[in-house]
Amino acid sequence: ILHFDTIDSTNDYAKEIGHTTVEGTIVISEEQTKGKGRLGKQFYSKSHDGIWMSIVLKPNIMPHKAPFITLIAGASITSALNKLGVETLIKWPNDIILNNKKISGILTELSTEIERVNHIVVGIGVNVKTMEFSQEISDIATSLYKEGHKISRVDIIRKILKEFENLYLQYINKELKEDESLRKKINNE
Ligand code: BTN
Repeated sequence: ILHFDTIDSTNDYAKEIGHTTVEGTIVISEEQTKGKGRLGKQFYSKSHDGIWMSIVLKPNIMPHKAPFITLIAGASITSALNKLGVETLIKWPNDIILNNKKISGILTELSTEIERVNHIVVGIGVNVKTMEFSQEISDIATSLYKEGHKISRVDIIRKILKEFENLYLQYINKELKEDESLRKKINNE
């Protein structure tokens, strides 16, 4: 786990080190000065207000299967929050919703070669302590504290990562088995 006080974007840093770092490296920052949302949008990531983190993955899968990793991240976040007593829903594929407002978003970025994934960066943002949102998003965004859930960021991170690791390994093992059985069929074994 690499922890920063401030950084431009944990996703950008994770992509930079993705080639050389090991799978499972987590980049977390207290603040992002250029937090990125989907579709080129800015993602509000004020100091100590939330969880801004990225996970580096190196799965041996074809690039077209990578979007499934976003679904695994969404399932991990809702499952972790639900276990901590917060009833969230997934707005597939990228948003986590609490009381009809967005509490968390996922930005998955991919580095590929032809037919092969080099590495995947799964960026997760969770609004934890934010009480004031800018005017343009105040109708659609909320935070755990704002909705009355005072849960520590460390507890949430631990739970999300635990859920993610379980679901991710299940998925990767299933993919490996399927590849192996396909290989046997092709080789008439
Ligand atoms: C979205 O809701 O559009 C996706 C938001 C993803 C935000 C996270 S915060 C950590 C990581 N670093 C970034 O720059 N973005 C993602």
